[in-house]
Amino acid sequence: MTQNKIGFSKLTKEEKIDWIAQTYFANPTQAKNILLQYWNQNTDIQKLHDEFIENTITNFYLPLGVAPNFTINGKNYTIPFAIEESSVVAAASKAAKFWGSRGGFKTTILGTEKIGQVHFLYEGDKAKLTEYFQFVKPFLLSETEGITKNMQKRGGGISDIVLVDKTAELENYYQLHATFQTKDSMGANFINSCLEQFAKTLKDKSEDFGITSIQIVMSILSNFVPNCVVRAEVSCPVSELNEDKNIIAEEFAQKFVTAVKIAEVEPYRAVTHNKGIMNGIDAVVLATGNDFRAIEAGVHAYASKDGKYTSLSHAKIENGIFSFWLDVPLALGTVGGLTNLHPLVKFSLEMLGNPSATELMEIIAVAGLAQNFAALRSLTTSGIQQGHMKMHLNNILNQHQATKEEKQQVIAHFESKTVSHNLVVDYLESLRKK
Ligand code: MEV
Repeated sequence: MTQNKIGFSKLTKEEKIDWIAQTYFANPTQAKNILLQYWNQNTDIQKLHDEFIENTITNFYLPLGVAPNFTINGKNYTIPFAIEESSVVAAASKAAKFWGSRGGFKTTILGTEKIGQVHFLYEGDKAKLTEYFQFVKPFLLSETEGITKNMQKRGGGISDIVLVDKTAELENYYQLHATFQTKDSMGANFINSCLEQFAKTLKDKSEDFGITSIQIVMSILSNFVPNCVVRAEVSCPVSELNEDKNIIAEEFAQKFVTAVKIAEVEPYRAVTHNKGIMNGIDAVVLATGNDFRAIEAGVHAYASKDGKYTSLSHAKIENGIFSFWLDVPLALGTVGGLTNLHPLVKFSLEMLGNPSATELMEIIAVAGLAQNFAALRSLTTSGIQQGHMKMHLNNILNQHQATKEEKQQVIAHFESKTVSHNLVVDYLESLRKK
């Protein structure tokens, strides 16, 4: 073990796989075969994948599904979802169809501002630092011109830089808090490059100004983007919610609104409610090559921005009209990053009509709202398990290596019965005993 700790990254891919298989697996050949079956025979794609990260030993596949029939601001879309959870794509498709015949989804961009901060310590007089900041601010902008030139040509750049006194929360702690517009790029590299230059300029010029105690701690963008927000909404007369003959529209609308209000006041419910929204959001974020960890972090921070974790979506009935909407922060890119590199990301973006970053914000927010609508509709009517377990049935059958014939028999048997893991396994075993 000890000698293998040295230089793993220097081994060839085959040597890495060998070492992993020999070191950790009872059956190294089987372990290697598991890895190899996900290896792409197309050497160009494999080379590309190998270069995305370090120490690649194979590929980790997720299904890419599509939900057609989305009408967003009058335009039709087929939305790509990269996700392993059954029911998500089916739910999205159902919600798309439902709202497609009720005016479709509408969206509004509420802001596109990105944020980054230089965190530093300063031990002197605050008035002197404030004076220094006024002096250095033009240099912060001029010394980043090399970085901002191209972004400015595209209509983006640095919007503002302010000095923030955080000493009440942490001794000697100040920030340069900067805001940016990054147009169609997510902007992480652009923002971080600007911030690192700000930090350098802030430090370099300080001694000329008689300040010697600035200590730069770090410079990094923030994934909390409360001013980079999109609203997605649907509405229709309550009477038009009457799609299913078993559902009384008024009762359904009331119950639905109550379910949303519960998520607004009860954090335990809000987390699961928002998780359902993220089922839609993450899947499209992933399919379009965006950073789902950044989105997740930002969304949940936004959900608790007023001091208590709450629902991202809201609903009301007013003058006989049911409205349901979602405000969600989404810092996305449709150029740069993986967008030009990953063939499936390129495919997904082209299928969406090569949207701008703001259009992608709109599409992704709609995917989240659609998912939330579908989940709440199930939860407040039939319950979630009926649909979930039907979709999950196939996974259970695959887990137990059911043959095609067995699958047909089991699916037919559970057509009108409640599905549970045990019941399926019991029935499968009874078939096998016959
Ligand atoms: C499951 O992935 C998502 C739900 O739990 C969401 C919700 O409860 O609203 C069904």
